[in-house]
Parts: sequence; structure tokens; C-alpha cells
Amino acid sequence: MKKTLSLFILISTFACQPRPDQTVDLVKEINIIPRPQKLELEEKAGFRFEPKVRILYEGRLAAEVGLLTSYLADLGILVDSTDSKLPTILLKSFISKNINSEKYYLKSSPKQLEISATSSIGIKHGIQSLRQILLAEYKGNALQLPAFRIEDEPQFQWRGLLLDCSRHFMEVDFVKKYIDLLALHKMNRLHWHLTEDQGWRIEIKKYPKLTEIGAWRDDGKGGKYGGFYTQEQIRDIVSYATSRGITIVPEIELPGHSQAALAAYPQFSCTGGPFEVETEWGVFKEIYCAGNDSTFQFLEDILTEVLDLFPSPYIHIGGDEVPKFRWEHCDKCQKRIKDNGLQDEHELQSYFIAHFSNFLKTKERTLIGWDEILEGGLAEGAVVQSWRGFDGAAAAANAGHPAIVSPTSHAYFDYGLNDIDLEKVYSFNPIPEGLSESAKSLIWGGECNMWSERAPQELVESKVFPRILAMAEVLWAGNHQKDFNAFKQRVNHHYQVLDKLNVSYGLETIPVQIKTSNKQGKLMVQLLEADSNLTTLCKIGKTAFSYQEPFEVKKSDTLYIQFERNGKKLDYQLAQLLKPHIALGLSPELSYEFHPNYTAGGASGLCDGKKGSSNFKDGNWQGCWGDDIELTIDLGEKKFIHQLSSGFLQYNNAWIFFPTKVEYWISLDGKNYTKVGAVDNPISPKEKAQETQEFSLALENTSARFIKLKATTLGICPDWHDAAGSKAWLFMDELSIN
Ligand code: ACM
Ligand code: ZN
Repeated sequence: MKKTLSLFILISTFACQPRPDQTVDLVKEINIIPRPQKLELEEKAGFRFEPKVRILYEGRLAAEVGLLTSYLADLGILVDSTDSKLPTILLKSFISKNINSEKYYLKSSPKQLEISATSSIGIKHGIQSLRQILLAEYKGNALQLPAFRIEDEPQFQWRGLLLDCSRHFMEVDFVKKYIDLLALHKMNRLHWHLTEDQGWRIEIKKYPKLTEIGAWRDDGKGGKYGGFYTQEQIRDIVSYATSRGITIVPEIELPGHSQAALAAYPQFSCTGGPFEVETEWGVFKEIYCAGNDSTFQFLEDILTEVLDLFPSPYIHIGGDEVPKFRWEHCDKCQKRIKDNGLQDEHELQSYFIAHFSNFLKTKERTLIGWDEILEGGLAEGAVVQSWRGFDGAAAAANAGHPAIVSPTSHAYFDYGLNDIDLEKVYSFNPIPEGLSESAKSLIWGGECNMWSERAPQELVESKVFPRILAMAEVLWAGNHQKDFNAFKQRVNHHYQVLDKLNVSYGLETIPVQIKTSNKQGKLMVQLLEADSNLTTLCKIGKTAFSYQEPFEVKKSDTLYIQFERNGKKLDYQLAQLLKPHIALGLSPELSYEFHPNYTAGGASGLCDGKKGSSNFKDGNWQGCWGDDIELTIDLGEKKFIHQLSSGFLQYNNAWIFFPTKVEYWISLDGKNYTKVGAVDNPISPKEKAQETQEFSLALENTSARFIKLKATTLGICPDWHDAAGSKAWLFMDELSIN
């Protein structure tokens, strides 16, 4: 019997139960994230919690009793298992071969509350479901639960979060908080990203300089930034995770993303160094030398200590984003290619990865690598983690290899809400399209990836929550019976659980869309609200106002938008630079193709009055990969023009460069054009900072109807660049005409 609970029936049923001196809170609904596969709620009273309970158990569940006892203590509920008069919680393990070990049953009846499963992990999931109910409902009084029965198990076996503690170091207690939050939402893998160009975070006894040197980078203020986990701390964290049913999968990056290690031990590079621990974000060309035998020994020694610390059957070795420039120019690497009959540097990468896959196999562990490990041939038995879309997962599964899916489209929680909001995550299905049934069974599940370049510890929470709730639900409950609106309601209810645990969750989606238009030559701004529960506060220049209706922006200025929920200001602000000009609202004709990931909303986005920020993913930038940008605009009639201006972005770590020059032409008839000038790029492509630049041309006594612009791309990343030889990006935000 599956029914909506009637509060009236509950109250009348329970009315006779409380002792006269005691308040009883009645639970109206059972709200659990991820949604249980089967929840049957009955219209009668079930288990009644008191501030003191007893716990009994059948089977080897002493550790699980300890875990439940500590969770109850956190809520102020005491356990006295010697008092038979107290309400009883029973943990019970039973034997059955045909039941998923993660499956659990949770039953609330007047007699007792019972959690049963065939394994420790099943019991732990049951404990977490109960804990969610209590975190939401228990207020210190007796708590009357309805009678209900849950039968629940996951659809996907791999449900993970990647935490990048390398770009920014995160404290031990913070990592533990995340382990506990994962367990609360029935996630079962913490993918711990411990080594990077910008910091080595794991103590290795045999190579102390990895942390003495590799864990610290210049902070840009004359000091050092960094930190690392001692082996003792790691053992403590692993034990904390194990007791909560979480497997920690360490990631030790090779052969790329290894500059911090090479700063400590440059002899394992192709050139011998010296190197600094990297201070910028990006992909760097200093990688381990694959021609040097001692590099293999060094990494095996490191992995030996890693295996001793982490009982995980799986070890992640990265393998992503490996520029081959050093290998191409290294005699030892070239000799290795020749001696082993390899085709090229991709096969050398494959050779390198296969070596460690075999090494791990001899230690009864399995290698996981990012989807680049497919290039040049996949090592036997390796598991692929697909991040550049779903294709890597499909290729792995079709070749008989297991895959974990964490595509940039749905699973990158370092991305902003304009790329990935709660609904987008909820739409995630880890199974790539078109797979055979046998290949589908190799899709183990998914992960959300919390890269921390732009997220020091204090920002992580607002990026991970609430989006991880959607990830937890799709990986646990699967893709049938998905209902985003119902999920959103449960998320809303769940915020009180997160509040109790001091989780500073962020927003579900961008609360407003900024829409611009041209109304008789005026730049009008309209805010389209996505969340009607918020109050929208605007500030432009010195003027602050609460948004009511579309307003005009008279001169170039930044609009700041803040939000209030129930009178409380949210820790979130939007900033948009707006720039009125006479081509507003027009759509230039483009003679190039922009990249589907960086559209700026199409051609009209180049004349919408919205300027880009230093973030190339802010939605205002249009990106063109390898080609020049050429466009023509028709003003509709001859107009007096005194300035032509176009905005570009440079962020050379992301392979984005200013154009070498921008040329402008004008015409009265759209056929015969006259060149009116060119603006050369004043800034070196080597300039590291992310910056924007206007390429402006002043005109005198000039009238035209048509304007043509050509921005010349740098073409390819120069020799000195870490991606030397790869196509360069050109990013433009606006053509402004005044
Ligand atoms: C990755 O995001 N480079 C795996
Ligand atoms: Zn080399």
C-alpha cells in the first residue's frame, strides 16, 4: 500500500500516545535524497523516537552500532542498550546470495525500528536514511514516525566526488566533513586528487622533498602557499572513510600534471630542470621523462607507499592533458620509442601507462585513468574515466573495459551555474547513447568533479551543494521515474538537513538572466527571474534599487545584482559590464564558425551591449578555434560614426590570445569597402594575466551604413607555450559602434 500520508489520521491515531508532560513532534512525510527505490508509507503510527533509545543487533554489526550511536549523540539522542523499556532500534544482517550488497531495508513499526541488509555497507545506507529523517525532524522532543517500509538499492555501483586538494589545500577536518556528507547521500567514492603542477600533497617517506619543496608554491606576496597530508593523517582519514562505507581512490598524476614533483626531483624530467612549483592554472609541458629508467623506479616507489596507505582496489594515475613537446625533443624518450617499436609519442604514453597498470596488477590493484589513456592503446584491465564528453566511456565499454563517467557537460562542479545548474546535473545519465546491453553493464557509474583552481576550501561548499544532491540521486535512483519538480521540492525540504550540518550551500540556478534590448536607441535591461522566492537588488554607479521593471543604462557601467531570501542576503553576486552603442540589437553576418561551447548567444551576442569578464566561460564570449574572426554589420541606414571598437580576451594558459591585429572597413552600399584603419595588438602573447582589451579606432567626419571587421588570430600556440603547435583560440565579446 503506497499512499500519501494524511496528517489528520496521524494526529487522531497518535493523540492517545504522548504522556501528558511531553511534547511529541509528528513526522508528516519521509523525505530522503537520493530518492529510495521503494517507500511504502502507511496511514498509522510507526516507531516513536524518545530522547533515549536502545540499539540491539544481530550479526557482526558492532561497528555499525557505534556509528549509529555517534550520529544519534550528535542529535542529542542517548543510547542505553541495557534498558529494555526504551524504544528499540534493531540492526540486523542476514545471508542471501542474490541480494545486492548495498541493498537495505528500513522498517518503522510501533514495536521497533529495523534496519536490515546482507552487508555492512547496506546497514550503513539504512543508517544514513534514518539520519536524514532525524536531521530534518528531530527537535529534542519525542518524535512519532509514521509506519513505513523502505526497500532500496543503487542503480550504479560507482558514485563519486573528486576533490582536488592540490590546486588548493583543504584541511583534514574539511575532508572528513566531505566524507561524512558523501555517506549521508549514499555516495561511495572519494576520488582524492593529491598531486598536481601546483602542489604535491601526500607525504612520501622515501622522497621527502616531494612535500618539503613540492607542497609549497609562491603565493605572489613574498610567502609560500601550500600544505600536505602526513601519512598518519592519511591513515586517519582512510579509517574515517572506511567506517562510513566510503572508498578513497587516490589520484597520483602521471606522466603529466607533475611539475611540483619535478620541482623537487628534476632528474626525472626530460631536461633536468630546474623547475618551480607552478603558480598559474593550466596545462604545462614539464612531464616525467619516459626514456629514463629511474623515472619508473621513482614512481613505483611512490606508488608502493600509496598502496600501503590506501586499501582501495582502484588507484587513479591521471594520464590526462599530457603535452608531448618534451618527449618529442628528448633523445632518451625518442630512443625508448625506437627500441620498443612504438609509432609515436601517443604510443609512448600508452607504454608508460601500461607499465604502471602492470605494476598495480602485480599488487592486485586496478588502474583508473582519464580518457586520454585510450590514445595510443588502452592498458589491459584499465578502467577509463571519461571527462571529455561520453565518447571515452563508450569506446572503453565497447572495448570491454569498465568506465566511470564525469563529463564536463554535467559533472564539473567548478563550472558556474550558467554552464551547469541543478537541473542540468539532474538530467545526467552516465550511460552513453547507442551502447549494447553488455557494454552498458560496463558503465560503472559517475562522479562529480570539484576542481579547485578557482575554489579554495571556503568556496567548495557553495559549488558542490546543492548540485551533488542531483548527482547522488541520478546515480542511486537511476533514470526512470525522474521528476525534476518533485526533486526540487525534496531539495527544498533537505536544506534544513544541510543547515544542521553547517553546509553553506549555493544556488540551484542563476537567479536571473540579464536580457538587453534596443528601444529607440536606448540600452534597456530586463531581468528574467528564475527563482521567484528571491528579492533582486541592483546597483549601477551610485544608484541602488530593487528590481521592478526594465530600466535604461545610459553609459558604460557595471550592473551589480545581489539577492535576498527572507530578508537574508545571499553570498552570491552577479556583475555585468554594460555598454550602450548604436549597433545594439543588430546581428552581424559572420564568415567564420564559432565553437559550440562559446557562442555568446550567437551572432547577435556580439552587439548586445553585454561585455565579457575575465572569465571566458561567462557566456558573453564567442570563441573561434584556429581561424580569424571576420564579420560585417548593416546599420540599416547611413550613420555618423566616430569610434569602432571590439573587445577581446587573452588567457594564454587556456590557449586564448589577443588577435595580432584588428582591421576595420566601412561602406555605404555593402559592396565597395574602404579600409579605415587597423589596430595592432599592444600586448605580448606571453602576458600571463587573464585580461580584456578594446581594439578601438577613432574616426573623424565619417559616415557609413556597413562596417566590416577582421581580427587576425595568432593561429597556433607559439614554441615557448606549453601547448606549442596546437591551434590558438580567439575570443571576442562585442563590436561597439559609436
Ligand atoms: C581533467 O579535467 N583534466 C580530467
Ligand atoms: Zn624524456
